[in-house]
Amino acid sequence: MSSVEAAASVDMKRNPYKPLLATVDKIVEETWDTKTFRAVFNDPEIREKFTYEPGQFQEVSVFGVGEATFCLTSTSTRPGSIEFSVKKVGSLTDALHGLSEGSVVGIRGPFGNWFPYKEWKGKNLLFIGGGIGMAPLRSLLNFCLDNRDDYARVDIIYGARSAGDLCFTSEFDEWRKCKDTNLYLTIDKEEEGWSGNVGFVPTYLNDLAPKPENTIAITCGPPIMIKYVLQNLNTLGFADEQIYTTLEMKMKCGVGKCGRCNIGHLFVCVDGPVFSYAQIKDLPPEF
Ligand code: FES
Repeated sequence: MSSVEAAASVDMKRNPYKPLLATVDKIVEETWDTKTFRAVFNDPEIREKFTYEPGQFQEVSVFGVGEATFCLTSTSTRPGSIEFSVKKVGSLTDALHGLSEGSVVGIRGPFGNWFPYKEWKGKNLLFIGGGIGMAPLRSLLNFCLDNRDDYARVDIIYGARSAGDLCFTSEFDEWRKCKDTNLYLTIDKEEEGWSGNVGFVPTYLNDLAPKPENTIAITCGPPIMIKYVLQNLNTLGFADEQIYTTLEMKMKCGVGKCGRCNIGHLFVCVDGPVFSYAQIKDLPPEF
């Protein structure tokens, strides 16, 4: 570890509540209610050395308004900036949506565990995302595509209510062009000009019927989608240990202190947010 990394790490260890300042340098309107923010740390040394893993999250603060957790949707294989996607759902997200390029935000993190991608080398990867749930999957997906030879086939099933609710559309062609990589899109209801599948994500998963052999499935989306995706994966023959998801609800402090994020005996912020289905299957049905 370099002295700069050590300094950054020591700083976070000493005071994990202290935000690092970052400037929003790009805002992408993904959908009518979701924007992706790209931010660069104001301190050039932090900017250069800040690193994180796919699946980790951060706390983003808008000064004078508040702070909330957002997954890192960018990948450390593309350094220099970080990205997070925000769906408009309340006062803090409204404030974030009101920012313009050049605004300064506070960043704490990275926090939490990450997808065990090193254990998945040589395996097929099956991504199953719904709506804004594609945000954490995008971090892992782009990480794996940047290390494409480490993995076998990559299939992406991604759905949303309508075509206008799909995020990261500007990257679809890039994903499709990667070796042995397939993108399957679906929307809930028929609409003019749509050439992809029509139907809910769990149903489309059943129709596509991916084989479980040597495959890891990673899913994130609305709770109702996750519930049926997990059931259908089991029915297709996927073992609980082959299925991963990421949970982000109810987090506040991000560092295991406030007690807001517990599900059963687990704290999402420190034991997760990434869990295998085997880890969470028997927890109370609140996730
Ligand atoms: S978010 Fe505070 S304990 Fe997990």
